[in-house]
Amino acid sequence: MSQGPVSADVKSCCATLYESDFARMLLGDSFHPGGLNLTRRLGEKLELRATARVLDVASGKGESAIFLAHTFGCEVVGIDFGAENVREATVRTEQAHLGHLVRFEQGDAERIAYPEASFDAVICECAFCTFPDKQAAAGEFARVLKPGGKVGLSDLTRATALPAELTGLLAWIACIADARPVAEYSDYLSTAGMVNVEIEPHDNALAEMVRDIQAKLLGVELMTKLKKLDLEGIDFAQAKTLASAAAAAVRAKTLGYAILTADR
Ligand SMILES: C[S@@+](CC[C@H](N)C(=O)[O-])C[C@H]1O[C@@H](n2cnc3c(N)ncnc32)[C@H](O)[C@@H]1O
Repeated sequence: MSQGPVSADVKSCCATLYESDFARMLLGDSFHPGGLNLTRRLGEKLELRATARVLDVASGKGESAIFLAHTFGCEVVGIDFGAENVREATVRTEQAHLGHLVRFEQGDAERIAYPEASFDAVICECAFCTFPDKQAAAGEFARVLKPGGKVGLSDLTRATALPAELTGLLAWIACIADARPVAEYSDYLSTAGMVNVEIEPHDNALAEMVRDIQAKLLGVELMTKLKKLDLEGIDFAQAKTLASAAAAAVRAKTLGYAILTADR
């Protein structure tokens, strides 16, 4: 990792934040800009079919994996660093009666526990930028893909250096602090041996998500003050500062969002 907090702390803080009730209140169950519309776009760009075996890296609560299996009929394995995410995603799969197509396991993007050439497609939504060793993760994506397989990332991008408010630990685990210029994501994929990298900007999806989070933050804070919600330990001032700094960076086009696809 280039700079910033210690690698193991980042991974476990990230998993803990996204397992929390607070994250669910602000984000719902799909933890990336554009929600399932952008997941569908990723699936279309990867040309997913019913015969495909897909790996969803950092699968969170399983929303995208379940959606892809339901929409394209493909088999999906989701891995996530957080044990609680894996447990919840497994329950949701059973509720969706998709246990024959979808399963979840605890795992680390930088050391994927599958042999080479195991998957037709790898997706990773709004998580690559949080991985301390991005090149190792890109190398793992390429390794577990079959020749001719496809990778699809959707992630936060930055055009220039970020302001100081967007580089602390909270910003890091909120997927912002280590956002990279889109060309750098492309380089990680190329260095890992992927070809035909395509980039599709989706900045509006991020702008909408940040607006939505700002509105929900106010609501959640009010409910907490009225004692209708018990969210002990949440620093609302810090969260609001982070959200308004993110909104300003999106308006200034310093922060954006993009889909990248490439072939093995
Ligand atoms: C912003 S959430 C995105 C979740 C999901 N992809 C989605 O779009 O809803 C980031 C996820 O990355 C997971 N994560 C963070 N570091 C990881 C790692 N090294 N390996 C696997 N998962 C990781 C977290 O547990 C969290 O679920």
